[in-house]
Amino acid sequence: MSWWRRGVIYEIYPRSFQDSDGDGVGDLPGITSRLPYLRSLGVDAIWLTPIYCSPQRDFGYDVSDHTDVDPLYGSLHDFDALVAAAHAQQLRVILDYVPNHTSDQHPWFREHPDWYYWRDAPNNWRAAFGGSAWERVGDRYYLHTYLREQPDLNWRNPAVREAMLDVVRFWIDRGVDGFRVDATRQLLKDPEFRDNPVNPDWDGVNEYESLIPVHSADLDEVHDVVAAIRQLIGDRLMVAEVYAPIERLVRYYGKNGNGAQLPFNFHLLTTPWDAEKIAALVERYEAALPEGAWPNWVLGNHDRPRIASRVGAAQARVAAMLLLTLRGTPTLYYGDEIGMTDVPVQRHDPAGRDPERTPMQWTAEGGFTTGDPWLPYGDRAVNVADEPPILRLHRALIALRREFAETDYRTLHAGDGILAYARGNDIAVALNLTGEPRPLPIRGELLLSTHLDGGAERLRAHEGVVLRI
Ligand code: GLC
Ligand code: MG
Repeated sequence: MSWWRRGVIYEIYPRSFQDSDGDGVGDLPGITSRLPYLRSLGVDAIWLTPIYCSPQRDFGYDVSDHTDVDPLYGSLHDFDALVAAAHAQQLRVILDYVPNHTSDQHPWFREHPDWYYWRDAPNNWRAAFGGSAWERVGDRYYLHTYLREQPDLNWRNPAVREAMLDVVRFWIDRGVDGFRVDATRQLLKDPEFRDNPVNPDWDGVNEYESLIPVHSADLDEVHDVVAAIRQLIGDRLMVAEVYAPIERLVRYYGKNGNGAQLPFNFHLLTTPWDAEKIAALVERYEAALPEGAWPNWVLGNHDRPRIASRVGAAQARVAAMLLLTLRGTPTLYYGDEIGMTDVPVQRHDPAGRDPERTPMQWTAEGGFTTGDPWLPYGDRAVNVADEPPILRLHRALIALRREFAETDYRTLHAGDGILAYARGNDIAVALNLTGEPRPLPIRGELLLSTHLDGGAERLRAHEGVVLRI
């Protein structure tokens, strides 16, 4: 049985997890020193967002050397030490793999211009962070799906494929247990660069959504690239970043093991916090999964507002129970286990994602660095050392879910702010998504409440329970 079916993945944003040298930026030795905490939390794997050499315009997603560690974070030696220490504690290490683009400072961009997309004239494609996706240099333009400092690689060029697949080989040889593949659906573009059609439903907010990216993302042939990457990754874990409607998302599972084992399911990030809507989402997703495919769920990441800010501190415990009791591998974003919230700060990230990337709150003083943290702390009254109830709840949920991780899912009730479902024949979960008490729609023996103490006659405000039925 594959570890990742029963396991919990924990996302670490290395800049913000633990600093070891006082420069105010988290680093690999810092992460290594915190592995015992992760072990005690009960997670099975850590996913590190990019640690490679980078000018840090997009904080590591602009890679300038794929096979070395940015000195900010340490060295290859520190990386090897981290992997060895993680493995010694039964923790797997998953790296971010960024195949769609490099930094404009990557030597390839100078030495191999034909590895990128150059055109005499731009088309109408938009960049994900706003503006045209084309940047002019002299009388030509290159394509960048993200920042202008992140030119897109042309995966139709065999030399690009080989060079980027070599990157996978390099890290496999260093002992990693899997990869989270960045921007997977963007890996191929229309060879004719046709204009994208206008989105008639655009809400006027995010410019990227003013067009429907039919020619710049999610092409049918992208699955050939996915298959080539998966072939190398083999039985290690391949997680794919795919923001797409469910029917399109599940195609990234591939067929006969030629897709990702876990195409990230981000739909909880955008579904309104409503019992009927969440139940409908879970059912649609479960029904769409291809034969043999294993589900997964995400409540937060380094690109989206934190769950405790979205639904509030009290409801964040219910959200944790949902994430950790649905069928499928959960990915937990660092800090969500203590209820960290978005910090109102716009200091570094051009796409405005600083609020969800602030330093981990280890102690009442902070405990992240002895220097000045690169981003300010949030409310340090919320911290690991004080073992807040939401942290104790996470520990308990992660331990309890092992009992029923692989059993099936069945909705029991969705309405009046209550979502209830069964896992297998003898476990039920009931979640009160409201701030008022509600009748409990099922009977059973209480195994765990979000409030940590007894109950289970009715559901209290913002209470979730796991019952044996
Ligand atoms: C992914 C990452 C995001 C990054 C982008 C470009 O969406 O999660 O943080 O900015 O890709 O690499
Ligand atoms: Mg440091």
